[in-house]
Amino acid sequence: MRLENKVAIVVGAGQTPGETIGNGRATAILFAREGAQVLLVDKRIESALETEQIIKDEGGTASSCAGDVSVDADCLAFTNICVERYGKIDILHHNVGIGVGDRGPIETAESVWDKMLDVNLKGAFLTSKHVLPIMREANSGSIIFISSIAAICSMNAIAYKASKAGMNSLSQAIAIDNARFGIRSNVIMPGLMDTPIAIEGISKAINKTRQQVRARRDAQVPLGSKMGTAWDVANAAVFLASDDAGFITGVNLPVDGGQSARIG
Ligand SMILES: NC(=O)c1ccc[n+]([C@@H]2O[C@H](COP(=O)([O-])OP(=O)(O)OC[C@H]3O[C@@H](n4cnc5c(N)ncnc54)[C@H](O)[C@@H]3O)[C@@H](O)[C@H]2O)c1
Repeated sequence: MRLENKVAIVVGAGQTPGETIGNGRATAILFAREGAQVLLVDKRIESALETEQIIKDEGGTASSCAGDVSVDADCLAFTNICVERYGKIDILHHNVGIGVGDRGPIETAESVWDKMLDVNLKGAFLTSKHVLPIMREANSGSIIFISSIAAICSMNAIAYKASKAGMNSLSQAIAIDNARFGIRSNVIMPGLMDTPIAIEGISKAINKTRQQVRARRDAQVPLGSKMGTAWDVANAAVFLASDDAGFITGVNLPVDGGQSARIG
């Protein structure tokens, strides 16, 4: 029960439909198993409600709320709802991220760039903008952003890469600016994970079977030649959210089976 008596918001707590579990859903479930009360926010409320049902079936505490992270009023609204329902906010877990349609600058449409930066980077700014005053008042809090090793590794998907690199910088700035309030801000950079957004998404985009996509991704991972799962991200998130990580802030933690450590 490492998160006993804590209140968490998980933004992007639903999931893309698919064979496996997504990062946001697994994290919300693990937060609840560790004793947190969890507000589940998602643009698709029906998907957040599925996560809520899983948590309630296990005896945990959760409720849902519709919200789009790229809309300022939505971010303010779910922040207020969390305080109304649970009285405080100890943890903000920002999981939302999209990544389709971008390549190099020549091939990437302006609309794709704008949408990706809007959701991935502006969304992270807006969620923290509204949650931070509550955390400052309490003189404590833990913010976790789900970035990607794309932020630091070579990747020809410029909008996704730039949005995640921006997120790393945003987190570092928040960490330094809010340390005096006892607030920590950290980033998890997942590598290749076996989640629906990756497997189902890529297999549709490049017209290959899920097995072919999995084999190609597994082969790139140094540790055991196997992708990670959403539970690997969730376990790292529980640690960073908990008091066990009380002296850790401003960190970008790869959860990638060593992929980002391989140079050359
Ligand atoms: N799977 C991987 O291999 C991998 C690798 C690196 C990083 N990531 C990162 O992991 C995160 C996503 O993981 P997941 O498995 O939970 O994905 P997911 O697609 O299963 O879940 C994301 C949820 O966010 C919601 N969402 C999308 N846009 C939203 C918006 N504007 N406002 C509110 N909610 C919105 C979706 O409805 C969905 O339920 C992303 O940040 C992604 O960049 C994944």
